[in-house]
Amino acid sequence: MNVLEAIRTRRSVRKYKPEEIPEEDLKEILTAAQLAPSAGNRQPWRFVVVRDPEMKKKLGEAARGQTWISDAGVIVAALAMPRDSSEIYPRWVERDVMTAVEHMVLAAWSLEYGTCWIGAFYEEKVKELLGIPEGMTVINLLPIGVPDQKPEARGRKPLEELFQEDRFGAPLKI
Ligand SMILES: Cc1cc2nc3c(=O)[nH]c(=O)nc-3n(C[C@H](O)[C@H](O)[C@H](O)COP(=O)(O)O)c2cc1C
Repeated sequence: MNVLEAIRTRRSVRKYKPEEIPEEDLKEILTAAQLAPSAGNRQPWRFVVVRDPEMKKKLGEAARGQTWISDAGVIVAALAMPRDSSEIYPRWVERDVMTAVEHMVLAAWSLEYGTCWIGAFYEEKVKELLGIPEGMTVINLLPIGVPDQKPEARGRKPLEELFQEDRFGAPLKI
């Protein structure tokens, strides 16, 4: 699947078959995060790859009861590492991490795995469970697994509303 097809067909998946992800595929997906761009190439991110069933279960509870995430083969916790940034770049740290996460989302989908951004979680709980050091922030949890549903596309705002041409307020002429 090429990148445009992945972008067009991707959906958030909220039901997974409790199957493992082969290491080869997982490595491909994680490498997509490694290769993401970041401000000043600072790569201010770290990831905890959770495959242990007990830990996945606990993360599901910490995700404000979104327990379905624990059926996914893997849950990746994406962490911001401000220490890796510099005075020039701190405002990009969290955005950099999100860019890396979206790389994983698209890579996973192109390999026919589902994901869902999880932004609703108790951060202190997740930090405690995963032993996250001081000074780091948990940006999101990303279940990656074999989809057990085919979600419908959710609506999007029309291009005319999102894009303007040359100056704000002028309609795009495409
Ligand atoms: C930053 C962020 C946080 C999100 N948090 C959650 C979440 O906690 N639980 C959930 O089920 N979906 C979550 N989502 C998924 C969105 O609901 C979903 O992307 C949106 O409804 C569009 O649907 P689609 O991804 O299938 O196109 C999150 C998405 C983003 C980008």
